[in-house]
Amino acid sequence: MRSSTLETASAPSPVTLYAHGAETLKASAALVCIEVACGERYALSEVLYQCPRCGSLLEVAYDWRGADSTLWKQTWRARRMDNQALNQSGVWRYREMFPFVDDAAQVVTLREGNTPLLQSPGAAQYAGLHSIAFKHQGFNPTHSFKDNGMTVGVTQARRIGRKRVACVSTGNTSASMAAYASAAGLTPVIFLPHGNISFGKLSQALEYGALTLQVDANFDQILALVRQVSERSGVYLLNSINPFRIEGQKTMGLELLDQLDWQAPDWLVVPGGNLGNTAAFGKGFLEAYRLGLISKLPKLGVVQAEGAAPFYRFMLDPKPKGFVPETNPETLATAIRIGDPVSWPKAWNAIREAGGAVESASEQEIADAKAVIGRAGIGCEPASAATLAGIRKLVAKGVIGADEQVVAVLTGSVLKDPDYIFKYHTGQLKTPGGEPIVSTFGNQPMVVPNDADAILRVLDGVA
Ligand code: F0G
Repeated sequence: MRSSTLETASAPSPVTLYAHGAETLKASAALVCIEVACGERYALSEVLYQCPRCGSLLEVAYDWRGADSTLWKQTWRARRMDNQALNQSGVWRYREMFPFVDDAAQVVTLREGNTPLLQSPGAAQYAGLHSIAFKHQGFNPTHSFKDNGMTVGVTQARRIGRKRVACVSTGNTSASMAAYASAAGLTPVIFLPHGNISFGKLSQALEYGALTLQVDANFDQILALVRQVSERSGVYLLNSINPFRIEGQKTMGLELLDQLDWQAPDWLVVPGGNLGNTAAFGKGFLEAYRLGLISKLPKLGVVQAEGAAPFYRFMLDPKPKGFVPETNPETLATAIRIGDPVSWPKAWNAIREAGGAVESASEQEIADAKAVIGRAGIGCEPASAATLAGIRKLVAKGVIGADEQVVAVLTGSVLKDPDYIFKYHTGQLKTPGGEPIVSTFGNQPMVVPNDADAILRVLDGVA
């Protein structure tokens, strides 16, 4: 049985939706084609994922004139002290940056965002940096960064009156969509590459009540299928090609800047799969820069797994028609096992605008970096650790300076893929091609007798 009794953002007393300056922006919000030569505009109420005129991607754009960013900074800080659901959300707190909702009661929130920025001297040393900070999105309600975008995507589904929502996923999008859709009283329909998602993520989808369809195909093939199905059935598509998801995800960058008192870091590094996240950070930072919220743009670092690195290869020699998808992507970091990333044009634009670099990391490099993040007491899932592995390589190449301020985004929690962790620490992890991965930082569990003396001898040996 589905229910919509969840506490949405509606509160006993009416919430002031927008600070001064944002009400006027609402009227200017439109879906705009990202292709400069086209630039066609569409109403936000239209259900579009690509420009009907030229086929390029769409984004939500605003006319920022009239924005009062100084007042907004104060408003956002003050909202942290407030008990209204809308203000407790680390996404909706920044709603002046995506002012298209008219009624607080439409918002579906599980108090997403509010994720910490964690320093790790150990990880910094491993990367060859003086310091590094991790923006840990695994602290979200469904334990990945997808919640930041999903709260906005599902809210839009509700605004336009859709009852069913769908996505294909390597696991995290589906877990997040399942939770938010069920919370909103909508029906979540998810499509998964059969046998290629972690058990933790699959279990979340089942627990949150999604209709779960496992397809014998890879992510890219299923995305084409789901787009067809959604077009023919009217099910609302919530993959990151959906521009409203990106609006929510860009608040990760805003929250980060707020946490740094609006002093932008030199680098922001993310793992790259479908490249929606790269696009979201790029858009958020660019808007913050244009509004005068920050005085410099962080450079963007993107790290892909070696076996699923079409964007890395493209960026070695980027040309408008030069993007070649990877037809058989393979990596143990299943979250980023994607060969034909939909958002590559947006990601490319973002890197051209801000500067940056794209790197790739091997299975061994990702596994070791992940263990280093774990030993710092932080932990993350395999795809997230690609950041540290890539940063280490970029520092060694001199692309990132040792004294630059680097923030890496940990996209999912350590418990998303426990099977991988156990195999790494016990020397059983193998690459998709069957090559053994060395447990460089392995930590084997020990079997001990039920005997205090024997245990004390063990303790003496390790302390
Ligand atoms: N890290 C994690 C943990 C992810 O789940 C994903 C994407 C990424 C990084 C890459 O982000 O696609 O925006 O470049 N997961 C999607 C999913 C594809 O279906 O959950 P991206």
